[in-house]
Amino acid sequence: MFSLEGKTAVITGAAGGIGAACAQMYARHRIGAMVLTDVRKENLEERAAQITAETGVRIISLAADLRKEQEDRALIAEAAEKLGRLDILLNCAGVSRRGNLYDVSEEQWDFTFDINVKGLFFICREAFRVMEKQGGGCIINLASQAARSGGILVTPDYPSSKAAVLTLSKSLAKAGAAKQIRVNTVAPGLIATEMTAGYGYDPATVPLGRIGAGEDVAGAALFLASAYASYITGACIDVNGGIAMI
Ligand SMILES: NC(=O)c1ccc[n+]([C@@H]2O[C@H](COP(=O)([O-])OP(=O)(O)OC[C@H]3O[C@@H](n4cnc5c(N)ncnc54)[C@H](O)[C@@H]3O)[C@@H](O)[C@H]2O)c1
Repeated sequence: MFSLEGKTAVITGAAGGIGAACAQMYARHRIGAMVLTDVRKENLEERAAQITAETGVRIISLAADLRKEQEDRALIAEAAEKLGRLDILLNCAGVSRRGNLYDVSEEQWDFTFDINVKGLFFICREAFRVMEKQGGGCIINLASQAARSGGILVTPDYPSSKAAVLTLSKSLAKAGAAKQIRVNTVAPGLIATEMTAGYGYDPATVPLGRIGAGEDVAGAALFLASAYASYITGACIDVNGGIAMI
């Protein structure tokens, strides 16, 4: 059985479907302590309370808007101080919007890239500083099948930002390898969460015949954070029910 015993983690986007499922998965696999963060404070605290009630794991909720470098820096500094060390950074915060190319305003383009790419880079860099000092760590970033396919139903800023996540993560993996910092991505396909509610995904388009759940993605995030993945860096795990095959 996978075990994260004694490890610590920061999970971003933890009020959302995939982030909360990952937090629950890590807690069920005996992680030592976690900082959960999201811009939606109330939802975050509710999720954290549920997970602690179920598993007894120590969770610190820190609300933050991760689009700004300053907030990323403050978040990681506070998390590292409260947790004592930082073994795992799992980045699930992200935004997408249903629509077509004519729906994209300049503001929306910037908003998408600010959280999906810019904020992601700065929080990873802050985690690097901590992990480098402590002799290693593990970073997992949420990309998307849309990075390769161009996306279904979403405006084009989203798949473009996720393609950037794939490349950025490889770049960070190269920078981190000699410091024993592993950086990998998980690329989900169609997953039922608040983000995709109302998108109207059709399970019949998925070879495995169903829309995925947050837990499907959490399984991959657990494996990548575990000792079983200690020789894996710069990789991407596809969690998409087979849609990449079509
Ligand atoms: N659901 C899917 O089908 C799917 C598919 C591929 C990739 N993904 C990716 O997986 C990740 C999680 O998606 P989800 O489906 O759980 O979405 P979600 O909308 O349920 O959760 C995303 C979370 O990110 C938070 N967030 C947004 N902007 C933020 C900011 N500026 N600062 C801090 N937090 C912020 C939101 O409040 C939300 O709780 C995202 O990166 C998404 O792009 C999802």
